[in-house]
Amino acid sequence: MVDNQHWLDRWKENRIGFHASTVNPHLQKYLSGFSLPTGACVFLPLCGKALDIGWIAAQGYEVFGIELSQIAIEAFFEENELDYERSDSDRFGVYRSGNINLLQGDFFDLTSDDLGACNLVYDRAALIAMAERNRPRYCEHMLSIIPAVSNMLLITLEYDQAEMNGPPFAVSTEEVYQYYSEAFSINLLESNDIIDERPRWRSAGLTALSESVFRLDR
Ligand SMILES: C[S@@+](CC[C@H](N)C(=O)[O-])C[C@H]1O[C@@H](n2cnc3c(N)ncnc32)[C@H](O)[C@@H]1O
Repeated sequence: MVDNQHWLDRWKENRIGFHASTVNPHLQKYLSGFSLPTGACVFLPLCGKALDIGWIAAQGYEVFGIELSQIAIEAFFEENELDYERSDSDRFGVYRSGNINLLQGDFFDLTSDDLGACNLVYDRAALIAMAERNRPRYCEHMLSIIPAVSNMLLITLEYDQAEMNGPPFAVSTEEVYQYYSEAFSINLLESNDIIDERPRWRSAGLTALSESVFRLDR
């Protein structure tokens, strides 16, 4: 079962194959298209220790991330050689370094007041980290905490779920529409066959894998 303990154990045991050693190329390609003003806030749900956090901050934006694992958050600051301050609220460990704000705790405990003004959600490996039965709840919660003006850059993976267990879980384009089409106008920016980039998954039986990038506008 993929519950909170699953993720905490993975960080403890360093089983973090999802962590990329480079900034996400789709983020680099598409972020400027949102024309965010300097100082705008970008929300990274389930942010891990992604290099994307530092890259977004370096573009002049305020970064707000939430992540369950203290190991992940502290590794982010240490590996990026950033000093940080930590304080605690009733629900979260609160880490701050310049324009980077990371909360350690459960996404489902986050409220719109905690999040405040957020102009863009960047969802890489967050929706697809949720098992099928949790995805409706994840998307409903997302819509309940982000401001009514907030857009989204969303990256998903699609494959035959019968060929491999998640996470990451397969999320179809239809499912993205199901969750988000009432709140957003949805544009599929690109969809690429990436099975060659995951030889380990291919050896484990996966025959096809595609990655899709969506732009969701209000
Ligand atoms: C697949 S990883 C992706 C991390 C990051 N987005 C990236 O691109 O590297 C999913 C992350 O979500 C975190 N996570 C899972 N469930 C969570 C929850 N309910 N609240 C906050 N973080 C959660 C895990 O600890 C893990 O770091």
